[in-house]
Amino acid sequence: MAATSVVVLDRGNNTTCTINLHGATVVSWRVNNQEQLFVSKQAIFDGKKAIRGGIPFVFPQFGPWSFGPQHGFGRIIRWNIEKAPERLASGDVEAIFSLMDSDFSRSMWNFQFRLTYRLILREKELHFNIAVFNPSKDLTFSFNMLLHTYFKVPDVRRCQITGLQGCTFVDKTRDGAVYQETRDVVTINEWTDRIYQNTSQEHIITNVVSGRKMRIQKYNFPDTVIWNPWLDRAKDMSDFGDDEYPNMVCVEAGHVSSPVILLPGTAFEASQILQVM
Ligand code: BG6
Repeated sequence: MAATSVVVLDRGNNTTCTINLHGATVVSWRVNNQEQLFVSKQAIFDGKKAIRGGIPFVFPQFGPWSFGPQHGFGRIIRWNIEKAPERLASGDVEAIFSLMDSDFSRSMWNFQFRLTYRLILREKELHFNIAVFNPSKDLTFSFNMLLHTYFKVPDVRRCQITGLQGCTFVDKTRDGAVYQETRDVVTINEWTDRIYQNTSQEHIITNVVSGRKMRIQKYNFPDTVIWNPWLDRAKDMSDFGDDEYPNMVCVEAGHVSSPVILLPGTAFEASQILQVM
């Protein structure tokens, strides 16, 4: 019998969250039956490739990596179910996933680690609590982490993103040139791939599904990556439809501009809350 590959949190009222154990990728978040996340129609679910959409878990590297695949191995490893979905007294539903070092992870990154990823589904919110522990007695390691969230939107050109004004950003579409954001809201009308540093703890994206707003709150994630491949780069991706780019925007909370440095016996914690407003 094939091992379970997805876990569903069901809060009632057609409010659900589905996690694929491949990468502990959140592949669906429905609020009153309305899907909030974008997953490409051409996404590949072969248990090898990263899933194109939802919320891939980027760890321990963001971007190209000399020791392994782009964005690290966290999004291409099968995670464990630490705690199956359970209804809390509040009516909310919680599940916990975990990842530890393995021969596969050590072949790229020779450290012991233990990661826990706790998700709580509330009426209109999805909470993410992440902890990385370094169990070693003497080795320090450093890493990047990022939640690569693909939001579903009717038309990305009509979205405005707050919380970036005054922030320095690295523009990967301009050979990594560094600029400062002057706009109070950021809009997207072309290929966009920017790493904003020291961003606000809160972003609001307007005009997501049903014309609503999405609030992102983040803790211990100093950076925010904004990405949309637009037409030409969409064409270059085998697992992304040529005509899908208007229907998504990635707003990614992470710790990527500088690494997290984790001393032996210590833990790093970060969290995110997504809220449909
Ligand atoms: C973004 C990066 O976070 O992820 C982009 O800033 C990258 O440079 C994008 O193209 C998608 O990456 P991947 O590996 O999933 O194709």
